[in-house]
Amino acid sequence: LSQSQSEFPALQANLGFSLLSFIGIVWLIPKVSKSFVEKGLKGRDLLKPGGRISGPWVPECLGLPCASWYLALMMLFIPFPFSHLFKSQTPLGPESFPQRELTLYLSSLLSLLTATLLGFIDDLFDIRWRHKLPIPIVAAVPTLLVYYSVGGVTTVVLPKGLGGWLSGIGLERFIMQGNIVDLGPIYYLYLILLPTFTTNSINILAGINGVEVIQALIISLSVLINDLLFLPIWSPSLLTLLKIENPENGRILNWAIGEVVDRHLMSFYFMAPLFMICAGFLWHNWYPAKAFPGDTFCYFSGMAFSAIAIQGHFSKTLILFFLPQIFNFILSCPQLFGLVDCPRHRLPFYDEKTNLLNPSKVIFEKPSPKRTVISLKILSFFKLVKLEYDGNGHIKSSTNLTIINFLLIHFGPLREDRLCLLVGFVQIIGSIIAFSIRYGVGSWFYGG
Ligand code: UD1
Ligand code: MG
Repeated sequence: LSQSQSEFPALQANLGFSLLSFIGIVWLIPKVSKSFVEKGLKGRDLLKPGGRISGPWVPECLGLPCASWYLALMMLFIPFPFSHLFKSQTPLGPESFPQRELTLYLSSLLSLLTATLLGFIDDLFDIRWRHKLPIPIVAAVPTLLVYYSVGGVTTVVLPKGLGGWLSGIGLERFIMQGNIVDLGPIYYLYLILLPTFTTNSINILAGINGVEVIQALIISLSVLINDLLFLPIWSPSLLTLLKIENPENGRILNWAIGEVVDRHLMSFYFMAPLFMICAGFLWHNWYPAKAFPGDTFCYFSGMAFSAIAIQGHFSKTLILFFLPQIFNFILSCPQLFGLVDCPRHRLPFYDEKTNLLNPSKVIFEKPSPKRTVISLKILSFFKLVKLEYDGNGHIKSSTNLTIINFLLIHFGPLREDRLCLLVGFVQIIGSIIAFSIRYGVGSWFYGG
């Protein structure tokens, strides 16, 4: 049973729901902002005159209405992809209803709800790092079980030649056919860690007005474009892009195409309203911000990406859309894992006289241990940080290890909105690189 053949009314309904997402959020955010402030959900806008001490109060955690509005709309949307079944005269038994597809929708919503709850708790109580890391893993269990139940793929396609090399070193038992390798549990480990990464990596690329939301906006747009490549709304010849070949005789397996279309259709249904929620919220979060997303928004949007990518079987493509976040995470590691001091906030330094942002610094009171010095010097060699030395040649200060400070070292000083646009631009370049890896040079890495 292929949804795609009978489902274009659902597509139209989805576009309607997407429009509602946008209008609803643009309208709702100012309406609820005051109640958030009254409940103490507010934060000082640190990069404005007065900063930490007397900067303007901005309502915080408005990812909560975003997530709630999105979840409500998605719940109302669920009947539409199945609407063609309602026309049948005789009641459908459990055998003829596509339970499998329904489960995909429900488990994704469950993971999203859990992520929203986690984000909200984090906003209320500031959970510690080591406590909040495992929670997305738990939230992803329903999604993973459903992935397993529909015969989840655990194979990856290796570049030509590498398969032969693996057999050469005695690892031939992992090789299925030709250069297809079954990673089995290792692949599940990757899928378990994916939601932890997508939720936290947006949260640590934060701190200037609009930046969390612009990331989610561009990632959701990239996923949407990727979905459109798989939908037969273009010419049917594009379906050859799928290249689901039988490894034995090289023939295209036609039956697989309908399934791939369905998966990308479902991803489209989740991503289009998400994109519009982000666009609507950016309206209020743009410099100078009238509302902050809070951790709720980061966890909710991050989980939406990984849940949909796991259910849609494009988790390897998704990770490519996170190139700036991967870069930011790797750069942040010395601070996240205690090699270098990590202040509560790593956002840029605001210069009140010029109204511009400069890289912020972490100051070392006493000479640092050798491993800290070595890691900082390596980063400095690659021009990722800027170091200052005292008279004795000891490191006196380093810029904070984030992509935002890295951009400021090379392109700063910048005004807050320009810097946010620059991060958005980097995200777009990242997506262009992602598409060229996925469909160009590296298409041999990606089977289906
Ligand atoms: C993460 C970052 C932290 C960064 C913070 C900013 C890591 C490990 N943590 O922490 O370095 O400073 O996000 O969100 O990288 N704020 C602004 N302007 C904005 C957005 C936020 O001034 O545009 C301030 C507000 O005071 C707001 C606070 O940041 O109240 C929110 O911080 P929160 O999201 O709780 O920080 P974390 O996610 O823990
Ligand atoms: Mg945050």
